[in-house]
Amino acid sequence: MSSQSLGSLFTPVEIGQITLKHRIVMPAMSRLRAHWPSGDATNLMRDFYAQRASEGGLIIAEASAIAGEGRSSTASQLEQQSAHTQQV
Ligand SMILES: Cc1cc2nc3c(=O)[nH]c(=O)nc-3n(C[C@H](O)[C@H](O)[C@H](O)COP(=O)(O)O)c2cc1C
Repeated sequence: MSSQSLGSLFTPVEIGQITLKHRIVMPAMSRLRAHWPSGDATNLMRDFYAQRASEGGLIIAEASAIAGEGRSSTASQLEQQSAHTQQV
């Protein structure tokens, strides 16, 4: 990889209506740290994403099942109450 292409990592980019300050994007994750049996987001999840957040960056956070049958494991997040997204 040339130094020129590495340098572009740290330049702004527009994605739809948002402008990122750099181009390092964290992809979707299923870290399996949700509460069992509720599927609620936990403080551990909040800390995990907070540690990886950066100014002007983008994190695509946590897969979240919309029904219990869709959970990939007992520790995956379940999106049944809007309060879940406010906890992370
Ligand atoms: C919902 C979802 C959850 C994911 N969870 C993880 C994960 O926990 N760990 C991981 O290494 N990759 C996970 N991936 C895969 C990465 O997002 C990504 O696809 C992978 O790093 C390869 O990147 P690429 O698809 O751009 O080639 C997940 C993908 C999706 C769609």
